[in-house]
Amino acid sequence: MANDFMQYSKEVLEHFTNPHNQGVIENPDGVGMVGNPVCGDLMKIYLKIKKNKKGEEIISGIKFETLGCASAIATSSMITDLAKNKTLEEAKKITRNDVADALNGLPPIKLHCSNLASEALEAAINNYNENKIANK
Ligand code: FES
Repeated sequence: MANDFMQYSKEVLEHFTNPHNQGVIENPDGVGMVGNPVCGDLMKIYLKIKKNKKGEEIISGIKFETLGCASAIATSSMITDLAKNKTLEEAKKITRNDVADALNGLPPIKLHCSNLASEALEAAINNYNENKIANK
């Protein structure tokens, strides 16, 4: 609908039409996939982790694949920008509101779409931590 389209911020439209960090990381250190049970949209996030000079684990690489609506794609793109080069502790604190704010807001009816991005990132970090424990 034309009215719905007009509710998207410039930032959402930019990230939807030119998503950042879209694609796959081969041999990722962590992968998280979540789905929205209401609309059926899916999001997958891949992580590469390395240690910085202080010995903290940082997200050195991050990519996403999303089968979903414009908001799901824009929030995927934005969360990869927000999480890149952050420590895992910092990345875990990124909320759906942080993502929506960085996109200058989402239409109220689309706010739930930002859940996917923060949940997929959390799932990827958890998967990395589980892999670490399993490989000890
Ligand atoms: Fe499904 Fe937006 S409508 S994530």
